[in-house]
Amino acid sequence: MATFESLASGILLLLYLTAPSRACICGAYHPQMAFCNSDVVIKAKFIGTAEVNQTTLYQRYEIKTTKMFKGFNVSDIQFVHTPAMENLCGYSHRSQNRSEEFLIAGHLRGGQLHITICSYVVPWDSLSSAQRRGFTKLYSAGCEECTIYPCSSIPCKLQSNNHCLWTDQLLTGSDKGFQSRFLACLPQKQGLCNWQSLRSHGA
Ligand SMILES: *[C@@H]1O[C@H](CO)[C@@H](O)[C@H](O)[C@H]1NC(C)=O
Ligand SMILES: *[C@@H]1O[C@H](CO)[C@@H](O)[C@H](O)[C@H]1NC(C)=O
Ligand SMILES: *[C@@H]1O[C@H](CO)[C@@H](O)[C@H](O)[C@H]1NC(C)=O
Repeated sequence: MATFESLASGILLLLYLTAPSRACICGAYHPQMAFCNSDVVIKAKFIGTAEVNQTTLYQRYEIKTTKMFKGFNVSDIQFVHTPAMENLCGYSHRSQNRSEEFLIAGHLRGGQLHITICSYVVPWDSLSSAQRRGFTKLYSAGCEECTIYPCSSIPCKLQSNNHCLWTDQLLTGSDKGFQSRFLACLPQKQGLCNWQSLRSHGA
């Protein structure tokens, strides 16, 4: 039995490793969802090339954290870890510019920061100033009480008072629409959440 199972999982692993196309399908998400669903959110520079560990098939990038937005109890993040191959959902860093700052939202595993190709890793300069304000300060206010509910096909129905319907994908076919760029889903009165402009909140 055990042999059969390990054989079967070996074959599966082989299929997985040799799959010609990318085996990862990433969902789209609003940046506030990326913030709320991550353990650690930082601004950082990628300061080294990737080092692959041939045993674990993970690679790590050396980073320099310049600002921390979430995960304050985690000390000393020097590396970001990711599977070594793209078809294992590994993140591959393209920019050679070591001064360029990136927003990195990732998960903690054994005290290490992990990301995948689906993680929210974007150049800081590409964020709107409203999004920067969100990451710096305001998205966190919505994490506990509010849920951004993606609506990708009509009809979309609000299922709860603490949901905000996210319609960017429906309206613009992308996750770079108005709600993503300018709004946060924030609590108002007890149990009620609404889209609110990040521009009208002071910096
Ligand atoms: C690779 O990872 C294993 C398991 O975490 C670790 O023991 C080993 O030291 C790593 N090898 C290198 C070259 O970093
Ligand atoms: C940091 O705090 C979070 C939330 O309280 C907790 O889930 C996580 O395990 C903590 N991490 C460490 C390294 O203490
Ligand atoms: C590298 O990034 C910095 C900061 O974003 C930018 O000012 C600079 O022009 C970039 N350099 C190159 C060669 O793209």
